[in-house]
Amino acid sequence: MMTASRISSLLVMASVSTLVATTFAAVQAPVPSGPASMRSTNQGVFTAEQVEAGKVTFKDICSDCHNPEYFTGEQFMAQWANKPLFDLYQMVSVSMPSEEPGSLTKEQYAGVIALLLQWNGVPAGTAKLEATDEAMSAIQFDFPKPTGK
Ligand code: HEC
Repeated sequence: MMTASRISSLLVMASVSTLVATTFAAVQAPVPSGPASMRSTNQGVFTAEQVEAGKVTFKDICSDCHNPEYFTGEQFMAQWANKPLFDLYQMVSVSMPSEEPGSLTKEQYAGVIALLLQWNGVPAGTAKLEATDEAMSAIQFDFPKPTGK
């Protein structure tokens, strides 16, 4: 029941969005409920273009206070991995940049999230990372798969 209502609220959100998003949600809706319907960051959930946009935002804004190293490594992954990507997105979009929280566009925040994922070895794909709470909540930040070189 809860999942069904969550899906229908997703549909409502999508219908006020673009036609493409509506079509996508309509296709997604019949998928069975439960955690299996979460996507994984290993499935290509952001594009290379978003990473490029994220680099610009990072250089212009985040790098005033942060080195890239702050966003990789065991401590960062322990904090954010194995959780919905929403947790990281929420933290960043509500609290950062700390002297002017929430001052960037949602697209800029999504781009920065894509960049942080890439720094952690998560592969880009063809699907754009949607800058909505719903989309971020439906993606799990998984530890990246080994590259198998
Ligand atoms: C004016 C300085 C400043 C700017 C600019 C800034 N941050 Fe921060 N950021 C901080 C501080 C200080 C903390 C530590 C907050 C705490 O631990 O309570 C932090 C913490 C974080 C964390 C939490 C890291 C963790 O694992 O706990 C993330 C993620 C983050 N910032 C991302 C960003 C991003 C992305 C940007 C650019 C959009 C940004 N920050 C811009 C000062 C800044």
